[in-house]
Amino acid sequence: MSSWKHISVNPIAGALGAEVSGVHLGDLGENAFHEVRTAFVEHQVLFFRDQEITRDQHKAFARRFGTLQIHPFLQPLKDEGHPEFVVLQSDEQHPYLAEAWHSDVTFMDEPPLGSVLRCAVAPEFGGDTMWASMYAAYEALSDKMQRMLSDLVAIHNTATTFSRTGYRTDHLGGTPSREVLSAEHPVVRTHPESGRKGLFVNTTFTASIKGMKPRESLALLGFLYRHIETPDFSCRFRWRPNSIAMWDNRCTQHRVVADNRFANRRMERITINGDKPF
Ligand SMILES: [Fe+2]
Repeated sequence: MSSWKHISVNPIAGALGAEVSGVHLGDLGENAFHEVRTAFVEHQVLFFRDQEITRDQHKAFARRFGTLQIHPFLQPLKDEGHPEFVVLQSDEQHPYLAEAWHSDVTFMDEPPLGSVLRCAVAPEFGGDTMWASMYAAYEALSDKMQRMLSDLVAIHNTATTFSRTGYRTDHLGGTPSREVLSAEHPVVRTHPESGRKGLFVNTTFTASIKGMKPRESLALLGFLYRHIETPDFSCRFRWRPNSIAMWDNRCTQHRVVADNRFANRRMERITINGDKPF
């Protein structure tokens, strides 16, 4: 574990997640940024409270980690000059979008490095977000299971989400699309910065294991999905307006806790481009 001179870092759970204080993301000096970058790789998801920042500052902070992604399906603020924003709005009319464990956009060859999510409107209670460490999930498997998974490749696609008829995202600026985007990734990926291995299959976009019979693939993925849900691998964050979470999409998964279903909740997300998993 690193020591910090310019920021404070307090873990909120054993497997991943730390709250960072003593910084304002709209005005972050080079030394503090360097420590935030180190803490990000170390803790996998970072939380910042009371960050009153503009959309331009939100983008500028994320841009220090890499180029920004424009989501292939969701661009609600495009007409306002911000095609990079994804907005997650839920309320009485609109259900939560992400109530299954997933990592983002794994149907592309180069899935995101991570995302910076700011809470604009928080429910009075509920609507928390959970993250799970895929390092912890991988490391909890036996040597034999780890070895078996190490050669496998999975197929990820949008067949059950963005390309499905009836998958309503129009209130999120989504454009209906029948086109199915698809990519192949190793089931166990090595993080390009930490060098650690983590599971890289998720319930939302992973369709099957390449080269396996459908029943084999279904059974193995079913086991891994149940395994990933083990609470020991997770942390949970309660939102307030101007809270920010920044997660490493290469080694974590996340989901909303879909309670208090009719409360108004609005989140704005900026996503950073990543590289090809290996
Ligand atoms: Fe997500």
